[in-house]
Amino acid sequence: MSARLDETWQIRRMRRDDIAAVRGIESTAYDYPWSERIFRDCLRVGYRAWVIEPVDGPLAGYALASIAVGEAHLLNLCLAESARGRGLGTRLLDSLVAQARREAAAVVMLEVRPSNTAARRLYARYGFIEQGRRPGYYPGETVREDALLLSLDITP
Ligand SMILES: CC(C)(COP(=O)(O)OP(=O)(O)OC[C@H]1O[C@@H](n2cnc3c(N)ncnc32)[C@H](O)[C@@H]1OP(=O)(O)O)[C@@H](O)C(=O)NCCC(=O)NCCS
Repeated sequence: MSARLDETWQIRRMRRDDIAAVRGIESTAYDYPWSERIFRDCLRVGYRAWVIEPVDGPLAGYALASIAVGEAHLLNLCLAESARGRGLGTRLLDSLVAQARREAAAVVMLEVRPSNTAARRLYARYGFIEQGRRPGYYPGETVREDALLLSLDITP
C-alpha cells in the first residue's frame, strides 16, 4: 500500500530489501542504532513498517510500530538528516495513526529520550501527552537515560 503526499514524496510499506538503506539512516541518526537483524526481525514478526521516499530518489525515512489488542506502539521513527524539517516525520505518524485506527487501536504509545528536543516537539505538536517515565530505559555513555512515556488517544 502506498499513499501519495504530493508530486514528490510517497509512503509505502517497508520491504526486506529496504533494510540496508534503512540501516544507513539509522546508523547516522542514533548513538545506539538498531542492527539489520532487529529490522529483519520486526518485519518477520509482522510489525507495521513504512518508508518515505521521493518518487525518484533514495529512501528518506521510516517508521515501525506494533499494533495489537487495542494499542499501537511506535518503535522507531527516523528521517535522514537532509530530509528533516519538511513535515515528513508528521506524515509518517499520519500513516501509523491511520493504520492503527483501521486495526481498532484506541491509543498510540511511545518512548522518547528527555534530551531529544526535536522528537519531543514533534510529538507534543501532534497531540501526544506525557504519561510517565521508564527509569533507565535507554543506554547511555556512563549512566542509562530514562524514557518519557507518551500517549495519543486515537478513538473516533
Ligand atoms: C524527530 C524527527 C523524526 C522529526 O522529523 P521531521 O520530519 O524533521 O519533523 P517534522 O518536519 O514533521 O516536524 C514536526 C514538528 O516537530 C518539531 N521539530 C521537528 N524538528 C525539530 C527540531 N530540529 N527542533 C525543534 N523542533 C523540531 C517542530 O515543532 C515541527 O513543527 P513545525 O516545523 O511546524 O514547528 C527527526 O528529527 C529525526 O529523525 N530525528 C532522529 C531520530 C529520532 O530522534 N527519532 C525519534 C525517536 S523517539
